[in-house]
Amino acid sequence: MSKVTVVGAGNVGATVANVLAHKDIVNEVVLIDIKGDFAKGKALDSWQQAPIDYYSSKLTGTSDYADTAGSDIVVITAGIPRKPGMSRDDLISTNAKIVVSVTKSILKHSKNPIFIIVSNPLDVMSYACLKAAKLDPTRVIGMAGILDTARYRAFLSTELEVSPKDIQAVLMGGHGDTMVPLPRFTTVAGIPVTDMIAKSKLNKIVERTKKGGGELVKLMGTSAWYAPGAAAAQMVESIVKDDGRIFPCSVWLQGEYGVKDMFLGVPVQLGKEGIKKIIKLKLNPEEKKGLKSSAKAVKSVIDSFKKMKLV
Ligand code: LAC
Repeated sequence: MSKVTVVGAGNVGATVANVLAHKDIVNEVVLIDIKGDFAKGKALDSWQQAPIDYYSSKLTGTSDYADTAGSDIVVITAGIPRKPGMSRDDLISTNAKIVVSVTKSILKHSKNPIFIIVSNPLDVMSYACLKAAKLDPTRVIGMAGILDTARYRAFLSTELEVSPKDIQAVLMGGHGDTMVPLPRFTTVAGIPVTDMIAKSKLNKIVERTKKGGGELVKLMGTSAWYAPGAAAAQMVESIVKDDGRIFPCSVWLQGEYGVKDMFLGVPVQLGKEGIKKIIKLKLNPEEKKGLKSSAKAVKSVIDSFKKMKLV
C-alpha cells in the first residue's frame, strides 16, 4: 500500500492526512479539494511538520483528480458539516451529490481502491459511494463506530478516573442518535464495566455518547474533527498493516443481524481487502430492539437518497 487520497481539505480531511502522515506507514498522501490552493496549503503545512515529527509520508495538495491516480485507499470527507440545530440527515441533499460525484471522479484514475467514507449522513453516504462505485462491498467502509466508541470510552475514562487506553467497547447501529452502545460488551482492562459503575451513571454516559457529535456542534458551531480524523486514519492504518484489528464500522449487510441491503455499524475485522470479516455477536432482546430501530432510522434516509435518483 503506497498511496492514500483524502478528499476534502476541511478540518476533518486535513486531520486525516496529518494523523496518517504521522503514522509513517504510506508513501504518499494526496489531499484533494475543489479549493486547490487551500488543499496545497494544508498539505504543505503538514509536510513542513515532517522534519520536526519525523515522518516521510509525502504530502501533496491538489484540485486535479489526475493527481490521485493509482490510490490504494481513498478517504472521502467532502461535504458540508452540521450547524447547530441540524441533524446529520439534514445534510443529505448537498452531500449525496458530492459523494456520488467524488466517487466517480476517483474511479476515473484509480481502478479498485478501498473507500473509507466520513461524510454525513454517514451510513447513507457509504451506500451512495457503493452504488456509484459498483465495487465489491468489502471495499466500501463507513467511519463511525471508532469515533462513537472513542467518545463513549473517553466519557467512561473521565467518570471512572482510569486511562482511556484500558477501556474497550463495541457499539452498533447507525451514526446518529439511534446508535446502540453496548455496555454488556464494554470492559475496563478486561473487567466488565457494569461491575465498576452504577447503572444510572452508565445510562447517562450512553445517552451522552449518542448525542456526542451534537454536543460538539453546539460548542463549536460546526462538527468535530480531531477524533473523526484520527478514527479514519486508524482505519487506513489497519488496512495497510493488515494486522487483523477489529473495529465497529458501517458496512454493507446482507442479512447479518437481520439487516439487508444497507449500511449499518457492526463489529468487523479490517484488512488489506477492506472488510475481512463481519463479526456476529449474540445480542439480547433489548440490544436487538435497539439495533432494529436504528436500522429503521437509517433505512428511511436511504429511501430519501434513492428518490434523488443520483445512481
Ligand atoms: C461527528 C461527525 C463527524 O459525529 O459525524 O462528529
